[in-house]
Amino acid sequence: MESVLVLDFGGQYNQLIARRVREANVYCEVKSCTISLHDIKTGCYRGIIFTGGPASVYVEGAPQVDPGIFRLGIPILGICYGAQLTAVTLGGKVVSAVAREYGKTPLLLRESELFAGLPHETSCWMSHTDYVSEVPQGFCVSATTKGCPAAGMEDPEKKIYAVQFHPEVLHTPEGMVMIRNFLYRICGCTGTWQMSSFVDSTIACLRGKIGDKKVLCALSGGVDSAVAAILVHKAVGRQLTCIFVDHGLLRKNEGDEVEEVFRSHYDINLVRVNAEKRFLVALAGVSDPEQKRMIIGAEFIRVFEEEAKKIGAVDFLVQGTIYPDVIESGPGSAAVIKSHHNVGGLPNQVGFREILEPLRILFKDEVRRAGIELGIPENLVWRQPFPGPGLAIRVIGDVTQEKLAVLREADAILREEVVTAGLACGINQYFAALTNMRSVGVMGDERTYDYAIALRAVTTTDFMTADWAQIPFSVLGKISNRVINEVRHVNRVLYDITSKPPATIEYE
Ligand code: XMP
Repeated sequence: MESVLVLDFGGQYNQLIARRVREANVYCEVKSCTISLHDIKTGCYRGIIFTGGPASVYVEGAPQVDPGIFRLGIPILGICYGAQLTAVTLGGKVVSAVAREYGKTPLLLRESELFAGLPHETSCWMSHTDYVSEVPQGFCVSATTKGCPAAGMEDPEKKIYAVQFHPEVLHTPEGMVMIRNFLYRICGCTGTWQMSSFVDSTIACLRGKIGDKKVLCALSGGVDSAVAAILVHKAVGRQLTCIFVDHGLLRKNEGDEVEEVFRSHYDINLVRVNAEKRFLVALAGVSDPEQKRMIIGAEFIRVFEEEAKKIGAVDFLVQGTIYPDVIESGPGSAAVIKSHHNVGGLPNQVGFREILEPLRILFKDEVRRAGIELGIPENLVWRQPFPGPGLAIRVIGDVTQEKLAVLREADAILREEVVTAGLACGINQYFAALTNMRSVGVMGDERTYDYAIALRAVTTTDFMTADWAQIPFSVLGKISNRVINEVRHVNRVLYDITSKPPATIEYE
């Protein structure tokens, strides 16, 4: 199988580069830049991409590569730090600019295989202070920007190419063409890799690793844990046991739907634990959002642990960790706004020999594609994100069974009407929340003093920032009417028109 090596120099876009290569239907592996020349040779790679990185090339301890890599005859594309390292290692010069060049920048291209089919003038995404001031002998400049005399350089004979900008980000509009050019025109790849190849090779790899041992998986009802579980199930069948902890904080009918999918579509060992009471007791009277999250996380581990003990010794735990979880929970990440509890936690407490995270390199839409390949029903594959702590963080303040019942009904109406109006595909997350506010209303001739339901709907690509969705008034009107008429204890419906930031998507 043709494959490409992505050499990691610690930049933030490493996995994004890998993803772009997969998008071009070429298999790739991300490896540390400390990989040996021997391992590179035995990997039979068609090409190597050097990623960016935060360091300055001249700083002591800055990541390096074995210079022999440039003599292997394998095509190389250096990006950002990777471009600077290429320049310095081969005898060029890198200097520090007075000001950082950052953001969308006009780019002038010259004749190059890397830029084949592109106009002379385009734009690119820059994020650097250092730049290549002198290209190595044998290289020519292939692109320039106002602040960067060698925004691109190359030695086509040796098939070594480098760009200071980031072709992997969407802000470089022609970036994908450049990546394809590198893979197809320069490395000679044919692009035969598909998501089905990922599924097949992952199943084979899991089978080899697990052997005849036992595996446990915590199902949440979301797409990530479902895809991870089905991959393992396809690999080792009934050696896998899935535990589905129904904490009583799921949406209307969700627990039954999850159970139905796994029982009727797959011959899977499934243990459903109905633990609503335990969670509600643990949450009683607690209104602080972080405390609610902690309680749910801890209770979840306790329930899971108890069930795991009943099964006996197991060697592996499967987790549906995907790449954005790794970034958000990783060391050095930004200040904790909310404690997401889908990564970590379980393994330390439960004590397995090893954790299996078969989706760790994938982005959400890739996970969905893998789910489709595996034949998982579309309604589960396309399920919108749902937080681990469930409706508990959509009931503002303390959580009770009555409040959850009100919220579940209102939320079901909102979701039904969004789908009926044909808006579901264009909105990335939509749900109802029960505000902790009660207000005066009038129904019939009676005074009411009931809850206000907030409707929330957002569009986003990465869930880190989001815009409120412009749902037509007619649809909002219908939802409001139905909620007021069909859900007892609600006398007011509000539509949240706040983006993120300053708000977050969830209310707690
Ligand atoms: P916020 O509210 O932080 O949410 O803007 C961003 C995205 O993350 C989801 N979310 C969670 N997912 N465990 C999860 O698995 C959590 O604790 C959690 N909190 C928020 C939220 O639904 C949105 O998609």
